[in-house]
Amino acid sequence: MTPQEINNILIVDDILKSVPIKTEDAEFIYNFVKEKKVNKTLETGFGHGRSAAHIIAASNSKHVAMDPFQESEFNNT
Ligand SMILES: C[S@@+](CC[C@H](N)C(=O)[O-])C[C@H]1O[C@@H](n2cnc3c(N)ncnc32)[C@H](O)[C@@H]1O
Repeated sequence: MTPQEINNILIVDDILKSVPIKTEDAEFIYNFVKEKKVNKTLETGFGHGRSAAHIIAASNSKHVAMDPFQESEFNNT
């Protein structure tokens, strides 16, 4: 899956309280993970999952993410 395909599926409202990363930053992460062939990833700050979606798509492997505000700010989405 490409960053463009992810952005067509993952609709994130930028007006929400905790601003997600920008699409161009997500694309940078995607290209970095793919180029470096990263396959073990740990993320602090899952939020709406935009970065996680790009990491998973680029690495095609298991991704671990944590966020202490996932329930209170993101309704566990
Ligand atoms: C700018 S948002 C980025 C969210 C997500 N990575 C994305 O792709 O949009 C920062 C995230 O970090 C989380 N956060 C804040 N303090 C944290 C902490 N101490 N440990 C882990 N995550 C934290 C917030 O809840 C929020 O989801």
